[in-house]
Amino acid sequence: MTVSNGRQFLSIPGPTNVPDAVLQAMMRPAVDIYSGPLVELTDRLLTDLKSVFRTKGHTYIYAANGHGGWEAAVSNVLSRGDHILTLESGRFALGWAEMAKVMGAEIEVLKGEWHRAVDPAAVEARLRADSTHTIKAIMVVQIDTASGVVNDIAAIRRAIDAAKHPALYMVDCVASLGCMPFEMDAWGVDVAMAGSQKGLMTPPGLAYVASGPRAEAAHKSANMRTHYWDWTFRQGPEHYQKYCGTPPEHLLFAQRAALDMLLAEGLEAAFHRHRLLARATQAAVAKWSEGQVISFNVRDPAQRAASITNVRVTGFDSSRLTNYTRDKCGVTLGLGIGGYEGRAFRIAHMGHTNAPMVLGTLGAIEMGLQALNIPHGAGGVSAAVTCLAEAVPA
Ligand SMILES: Cc1ncc(COP(=O)(O)O)c(C=O)c1O
Repeated sequence: MTVSNGRQFLSIPGPTNVPDAVLQAMMRPAVDIYSGPLVELTDRLLTDLKSVFRTKGHTYIYAANGHGGWEAAVSNVLSRGDHILTLESGRFALGWAEMAKVMGAEIEVLKGEWHRAVDPAAVEARLRADSTHTIKAIMVVQIDTASGVVNDIAAIRRAIDAAKHPALYMVDCVASLGCMPFEMDAWGVDVAMAGSQKGLMTPPGLAYVASGPRAEAAHKSANMRTHYWDWTFRQGPEHYQKYCGTPPEHLLFAQRAALDMLLAEGLEAAFHRHRLLARATQAAVAKWSEGQVISFNVRDPAQRAASITNVRVTGFDSSRLTNYTRDKCGVTLGLGIGGYEGRAFRIAHMGHTNAPMVLGTLGAIEMGLQALNIPHGAGGVSAAVTCLAEAVPA
């Protein structure tokens, strides 16, 4: 017996739900790549991306996923042999660093725990010890999608400044852009990158990189540069140079429609929506935790991400629950990744998501907990409803 026929819920932290208007924006013939509406579309996208990254710097659009965005960021500002400090708080900063290593950088990991945010004081101490400034870049993820940790990007900038260290500051915003505040210029971020498929509500396939003046200066002498990713080439006068080849037209139309939705809602309103849905999710998880087998991966509530919640389980394999919600209810949850396999599941509240979608997902989880006889505190969904009702008055 199942109750899964009906709209399927994709509650994984990327790719996320694509709005109907965004899907429809792709249902059109291809257009000329040298003139006409595509040229203006590119200009507007590059400009609007600046307002989303909150920068006056340059923005670049790549036909690529997030890994491509990582490579674009690294190859444009680093040289082989450069020493990179990567700040661990989950899987993804490590993944970015591993890529930089393959490309020829020397990697140092500032060890961190996956259940808490990067400690700015530890960053400051490490940078103070680097009195000869061998560290050329610092890499961090704003929201780590594996652990559910959110890092304080402004506080880490203050730590870098306190140590008077000149390293470039590089931030992965793949799971945070469009979901929570990010202030590239105000927070002194030199390079930021993101992808289309999470908070930006567009199918996977576009990567975005933003660069500030210090990054553009480093770019001039960087020797990891390759033609496809190269910023200088992409700043050239011809439209095809912006993509180093045929533009991914239909994804661009999709991203345009998604940005129109996001900007119409207002970035602040979108951030607030994410904050409330995260809080509602946390209210449910807190209740379930009373059964002693479910817990938050991130212990400090202030360090829990607005876009994804990592829920740890003990004493049973989390795939029993995620299989149940998928097969019996039509709700696909994020699995534990990066070492959390079988020990966690992840609830996405990211991108094109509203209260009934999150409440429906939480309801399917609570149903699974009951059906599988997994010990849990009762009333998780009710706690989430109360949380939202209080935050969203009539
Ligand atoms: C924070 C973060 N960075 C980078 C990536 C890599 O992106 P992609 O899978 O599109 O290559 C992901 C993917 O989930 C991510 O969550």
